[in-house]
Amino acid sequence: MPATIVAGNWKMNTTLEEARELAEGVRSLADNTGGVETILCPPAISLSAVKEAVSGSTVKVGAQNMHWEDSGAFTGEVSPAMLVGLCEYVILGHSERRQLFGETDAQINQKVKAAFRHGLKPILCVGETLEERESGQAREIMARQVMSGLDGTVGLDINGLVVAYEPVWAIGTGQAATPDIAAEIMGGSILEALHSLFGPDADDIPLLYGGSVNVGNIADFASQSCIHGALVGGASLQAESFMEIARLAG
Ligand code: G3H
Repeated sequence: MPATIVAGNWKMNTTLEEARELAEGVRSLADNTGGVETILCPPAISLSAVKEAVSGSTVKVGAQNMHWEDSGAFTGEVSPAMLVGLCEYVILGHSERRQLFGETDAQINQKVKAAFRHGLKPILCVGETLEERESGQAREIMARQVMSGLDGTVGLDINGLVVAYEPVWAIGTGQAATPDIAAEIMGGSILEALHSLFGPDADDIPLLYGGSVNVGNIADFASQSCIHGALVGGASLQAESFMEIARLAG
């Protein structure tokens, strides 16, 4: 049975001081979440401060993105080697990276492999657009994003891999998917793709739902056997709501 995980993606929000305060707020509530693993993913520039703020607690830290090369002429990028020691997880392939910054499946795959090479735990994000859903392609596209994101990883130590299903139409819209829609994709094409790659080991990979998760809907998602937690955007910017979501996910 996979671990239950609730990760907060702060996106491009919080100054350094705000990040520190938010992390301290989360830390002060960390005893109330039972066995649920909580992960904070602040902007890269605040990783060090957040790591320090939660040190000694059960709260983990993740980055929101990274390049796949260790170093080089890639202005503005952060490498996996730079993240090692700063965080345990890294979100890869978020739909905002795919849509706003043109990240391709092939680039995301390079990043996933780089994460494994460096002992970072990838949170691989996949999700279909509204157009793709309405044209009946959601299942096929989810299988493709999982297969190509994880291409070449069979035989690697994939311990720590997390897959997040975030339908693009549900992100930041207040219109979460229904638990049934999420479960159909997660327990269907996503899990099937993971099985075809990793066999029975796929059953140990935590699958998170993301897209307008809040304190009012998390319990319904978490009650689905194929959903092992959430990747939370807006509601993670407030310590109390984030930790309440974590508590309710358990
Ligand atoms: O990574 C998080 C997702 O994009 C969800 O964001 O909870 O604000 O809809 P949201």
